Amino acid sequence: MRKAPVEDRTTSLEDYLSVYSKKVDSALKKLFVRHKDEPVSVNKAMGYSIFAGGKRLRPILVLAAHECCGGKAEDALKTASALEMIHTYSLIHDDLPAMDDDDLRRGRPTNHKVFGEALAILAGDGLLTYAFEVAAENSADLNLDGKRAATLIQAIARGAGAAGMVGGQAADLEAENWKNKNHGFNPARHLEYIHLHKTAALIVASLEAGAILARATEAEIKSLSRYGRSLGLAFQITDDVLDAVGDKKKMGKMGSDAANNKLTYVSLYGVDKARAMARREASKAKAALDVFSSQRNQWLKRIADYTIERDK
Ligand code: IPE
Ligand code: IPE
Ligand code: MG
Ligand code: MG
Ligand code: MG
Repeated sequence: MRKAPVEDRTTSLEDYLSVYSKKVDSALKKLFVRHKDEPVSVNKAMGYSIFAGGKRLRPILVLAAHECCGGKAEDALKTASALEMIHTYSLIHDDLPAMDDDDLRRGRPTNHKVFGEALAILAGDGLLTYAFEVAAENSADLNLDGKRAATLIQAIARGAGAAGMVGGQAADLEAENWKNKNHGFNPARHLEYIHLHKTAALIVASLEAGAILARATEAEIKSLSRYGRSLGLAFQITDDVLDAVGDKKKMGKMGSDAANNKLTYVSLYGVDKARAMARREASKAKAALDVFSSQRNQWLKRIADYTIERDK
């Protein structure tokens, strides 16, 4: 029997998130000591965005999934950091003038505003690439067998790539000014595709990665993927709601969906229906965890509620 060091039931989710995000921050600090072959400029630009705050949701999901499958959080910290690097790269590129053209992120001027567009693109490229180096290192540290190590890298690549986050971002851009599109365009279907890919895919990859590192069974990995799919949808629907009605100061970003004529759950369904849809996805997410004991799945269940109740 594998023993999981599951935190005590009485700890609040707030404490859990704060303890785990601190673990991630200190792991990232160790990983971002400048390599001697790295120009100061690109190292600075990467560090600027990675250490700008952020909720650290994806790395926390790696750790929580790892523990849910019987692993020790400390063993998955490098892969958790890798997922945060990919997420942060996606944010840097998302903010570029050619994409959402935003000036504020995580309460600071966006990367390209400080370092210029060229370095912002390269900082993103550097973060994406480093993520795979670090995840590979993690699988070597844990002596994962070759097949499992390959599956880990594959799951992360799939979530990040053109059939995952990158594809969702492309679909998101294509759907701008959707109200002027012709009759063949199905906004509801396109919108679900966007959210499942631009956001849920990397969340699914985070959960799968945590599970794979813990040498989880196929059935456990499948349940966590289903959880991630619904959690990711709920998370992005809530992001759409916050973009429309959230407190910009708390969020540390200005919200640009309306100005960019984005296809979102708010622009298609309105705030109330969007919130209801997010609630439905959060309950579906929780139901997907029933293969695990309630002691094992409690944190992931609580994270599902947090995803739709958060204000930033
Ligand atoms: C923002 O993600 C982009 C989305 C996919 C919605 P987060 O809301 O997790 O942003 P940070 O990491 O906390 O800044
Ligand atoms: C971004 O969606 C999803 C990413 C892959 C970065 P948004 O464009 O809505 O994210 P925010 O609101 O700018 O954080
Ligand atoms: Mg965007
Ligand atoms: Mg954006
Ligand atoms: Mg948004």
